Amino acid sequence: MCGIVGYIGTHKARPILINGLKKLEYRGYDSAGIATIENNNIVCIKNKGRVKELENIDKVNSLGGTIGIAHTRWATHGKPSSTNAHPHLDNSKTFAVVHNGIIENYSELRKFLTDAGYSFLSQTDTEVIPNLIHYYYLKEDEKNTDKLACAVRKATLDLKGSYAISVLCSLEPDKIIVARKDSPLVIGVNDTEKYIASDIPAILEYTNNIYILNDGDLAKLTTDSITFYDNDFKIITKVPEVITWDAKAADKNGYEDFMLKEVYEQPTAIRETIGIRLSHGKKCDFSDINISKEYLSNISSIYIIACGTAMHAGLAVKPIFERLVSVPVIVDIASEFRYREPLINEKTLIICISQSGETADTIAALKNAKAMGCKTIAISNVIGSSITREADFTIYTHAGPEIAVASTKAYTSQITILSLLAIYFAEVLGLEENEMLQNLKNEILELPSKVSIALENTDIIKAFAKRIYKEKDLFFIGRGTDYAAALEASLKLKEISYIHSDAYQSGELKHGPIALIEDDVTVVGIITDRRLVEKSVSNLQEVITRGAKTLVVTNQNIDEKLFTNIVRIPQVHPLLSPVVSIIPLQLLSYYVAKEKGLDVDKPRNLAKSVTVE
Ligand code: M6R
Repeated sequence: MCGIVGYIGTHKARPILINGLKKLEYRGYDSAGIATIENNNIVCIKNKGRVKELENIDKVNSLGGTIGIAHTRWATHGKPSSTNAHPHLDNSKTFAVVHNGIIENYSELRKFLTDAGYSFLSQTDTEVIPNLIHYYYLKEDEKNTDKLACAVRKATLDLKGSYAISVLCSLEPDKIIVARKDSPLVIGVNDTEKYIASDIPAILEYTNNIYILNDGDLAKLTTDSITFYDNDFKIITKVPEVITWDAKAADKNGYEDFMLKEVYEQPTAIRETIGIRLSHGKKCDFSDINISKEYLSNISSIYIIACGTAMHAGLAVKPIFERLVSVPVIVDIASEFRYREPLINEKTLIICISQSGETADTIAALKNAKAMGCKTIAISNVIGSSITREADFTIYTHAGPEIAVASTKAYTSQITILSLLAIYFAEVLGLEENEMLQNLKNEILELPSKVSIALENTDIIKAFAKRIYKEKDLFFIGRGTDYAAALEASLKLKEISYIHSDAYQSGELKHGPIALIEDDVTVVGIITDRRLVEKSVSNLQEVITRGAKTLVVTNQNIDEKLFTNIVRIPQVHPLLSPVVSIIPLQLLSYYVAKEKGLDVDKPRNLAKSVTVE
C-alpha cells in the first residue's frame, strides 16, 4: 500500500525519485522520504505529508547523488510522522531501507536486536530490517566480495510476512540491493540507467524494458550490471518484459483528476479488453486457458472471489454465468472466504478478480482454494502481478494503468472480460447456436460505443451533484444486475465523497429500510430490465410518497412526468447493463466529491492496492 522508487545511473537521482513518488502517491500518501549517497554518506530526508511537501524542502533540492531510494507511505505500524516515514536507517547510519509490506514477527526481531544492543527510533515494523542487515553485515567474512547481498539475504530469511525492499549501504556506495516476497517490485533498464519501482507506472516514462521480480528473488544493481539471485541465493538469468503501456497513460493528460480521465477512458479500456477475444460472427477465443468441455460439464459450482469493486464486478456477472453455464455461482468476499471452510473441491472452479493483482486477501483466498484441489483463474489488469503467478490461468483486462484509488475502468473491463468468459464456457459446452449467446456477443461488441454515449449525458448529473453534496445519507436501489450496479455506485460515493450510502434490492425496501425514508432523503434508482420496470417504478413511487427526492438512471420507456430527474442511458441487454448504468453514477460520485472540494484521486484512509490484511 506504499510506494517504492529507486535509481542508480549517471544522472541526479533526486528528480527521478521525486517524479516516481508522485506517480506512486496513489499507493499511499501520509508521509514520504528519500535517501541518496553523497561522499560515501547516506543523506536521508523524511517528512509527514504529501510528496509535494517533501519536494519543497530545501535540503531535498540540494541532493546531488546519482544513486538513491525513496518511499511514499500509507501507515500500518505507527502513525504518520517523519520518524515513522521511510527510508529507515540502522543505528550506525550505514544502511537505508525502504519497505512495502508487513513484517509479522517484528516484535520478536526487535527483542532479538535490542538484546544484541540495537535501539529503535520509530514505531514501525520496518526499522528492524536495516538493523538486521547491519547485524549480518558485521558477521560476513571481510574477503567476501558480495557482502551486502549476502547480508540482505540473511536478513530477509529472518522476516515473516511480506516485503519489497530496496537497500542502500554507504560502505558499498555503488550498489542497490532489492528483494521481494508477497509484495511487488520491478526493475526497469535502459543503457546505463536502472530504475526500481513497486509499480510499473512510476518508471514508465524512462523505460518499458522491465524485469519483474518473483517471490524470493533478490537483485544487486550497479550502474553497469544487474545480478539476480533466486530464493536459494543462486545466480539466475532473467529476461525483461517489454511493457506496451504508453507512458502518457500514467499522466492526467489534461484532465483535472486521474479518476475523471479513467472514467472517460472506459470505451477504450473495454475495446482493448475485448481485443482479439471476440470479433463479429466468430466464437470467443480463450484458447490460452486450458478449460475443456469435459471439465466444464463436471463442475458443480463456480466461486468468484474478490474485494471491493472487483467483488461488485463478480456480483454483476453472476447472472450471466448462471444463465449460460447452468451451475450455481457464489460470489464471495476474499477476506471472509479465506477464514471459512467453504464447501469446495476439485469440482469447484475458482475465479479471483483483482485489478492490481496484489490484494493480500484475494491472493490468500486463491492459494487456499488451490490447496483444496480447485482449478483457479485470475482476472487481473497488471502483467506479472502476484496473483498471476499463483493462479492456474490468468486472463488480463487491458484497461491500462488505473491510478485513481476509486476503481472505474477496471470495473467495467472486468465485467466485459467475465461476460466473454461466460459466453466462451457456453460455447465450449456446445451452446454456440443459442440465440441469446449471439445477441450477447453483438451487444458486447457495442459496449464501447454505448459507454461513450452514456459519458456524454452529464448535465443532469452535475446539477444533481450540486443539490445533494451536503447530504449525510443516500440510498441506491435496483433489481437483479441493477442491484449489483447500485452496490458499486454506493461504494464509489462513500469512498470519494465520504457520504454514507446504502444499496438495496428495490423489493427489499419495504422489509425495513423504508423506515429511513423521510422528507428530502435522496434515493437513486437504476432501471434497465424491461421485465421489472413496473415493479421498480412502484418502489420509487413508494419513496417519493414519503418525501424522497429521486434520480433515476434508466434505458426503459419511463414517463418523464413520473420523475423529476431522469438520466437516459443506451439500451443494453440486462445481463450486461452494469457496464453502462454505472457510468452516470461514477460521474455522480465524482462531481459530488468535487463540489465538496475533496481530493478525488486520493481519498482519506484509502490506498490503491491493499497488500495487507
Ligand atoms: O486491486 P483489487 O481489484 O484487488 O482491489 C480490490 C479493492 O481494494 C478495490 O476494488 C477497492 O474497493 C477500490 N478502491 C474501489 O474503488
